[in-house]
Amino acid sequence: MYTDAELAPDGRSDTIRIHTKEDFEGMRAAGKLAAECLDMLVPLIEPGVETDRLDRLAREFMLDNGSLPACLFYRGYPKTLCISSNHVVCHGIPSEKLLKNGDIINIDVTLILDGWHGDTSRMFAVGDVKRNARRLIDVTFEAINRGIAEVKPGATLGDIGAAIQEYAEAERCGVVRDFCGHGLGRVFHDNPNVLHYGQRGLGTVLKEGMFFTIEPMLNLGKPAVKILNDGWTAVTRDKSLSAQFEHSIGVTADGAEVFTTSPTGLHNPAAL
Ligand code: MF3
Ligand code: CO
Ligand code: CO
Repeated sequence: MYTDAELAPDGRSDTIRIHTKEDFEGMRAAGKLAAECLDMLVPLIEPGVETDRLDRLAREFMLDNGSLPACLFYRGYPKTLCISSNHVVCHGIPSEKLLKNGDIINIDVTLILDGWHGDTSRMFAVGDVKRNARRLIDVTFEAINRGIAEVKPGATLGDIGAAIQEYAEAERCGVVRDFCGHGLGRVFHDNPNVLHYGQRGLGTVLKEGMFFTIEPMLNLGKPAVKILNDGWTAVTRDKSLSAQFEHSIGVTADGAEVFTTSPTGLHNPAAL
């Protein structure tokens, strides 16, 4: 398997791309398919399931639906999904490891449809999870929604970061600093960097036609992370639980279009 250079140009732009109405259609289709890929996995998430099985099913789903797995071989990444459990912050690598009762997991899907990237992740509870873990999931879901609510032309990236940080810290959660959201479209990781902390009024001013992700990672403990020896898996330094949600978003004339909303409402953890 390979990713066509034509379909996924490597070049990050110096400026922030402004996209057309047709580009919105491309992102809408890619985002919807990414959300449907996560929806497809929902009934399979239970104790005893191999994370590699979810990875394989996601890859088959993408290929069956005319899309390509964007993460597979991206900078040498070996799998289709990122599956990050418990104190894993992000970029957990699917393996023969089994899901177990009480785990909280993030599944991050990125696919390329007709050259457009759909990038989204959600949290899932495996069996019965402890109350503090459930609370972290709910706080992280509210945090991404508060970030998205800031998006409109004239607002700044600082407004998004501040909305997330103020809420997360009021809920005594640490906001991870080492990873951020990103511009995307025909390019997977493009300008701008979308920080999940910041100050209102500062940073890049949003304009209609910008595409980017918002993907806050919140920890029950401190923000600090470290990368394991596999070169990918990011974990909390204090071993505290971590959660993340991610959506791909376009700036519209008066707000945000969320490309990766689940058609069946399953992006909301309350629906699970
Ligand atoms: N989907 C991740 C993101 O939100 C990127 C994963 S890159 C990989 O940006 F190589 F780890 F897959
Ligand atoms: Co992303
Ligand atoms: Co992602």
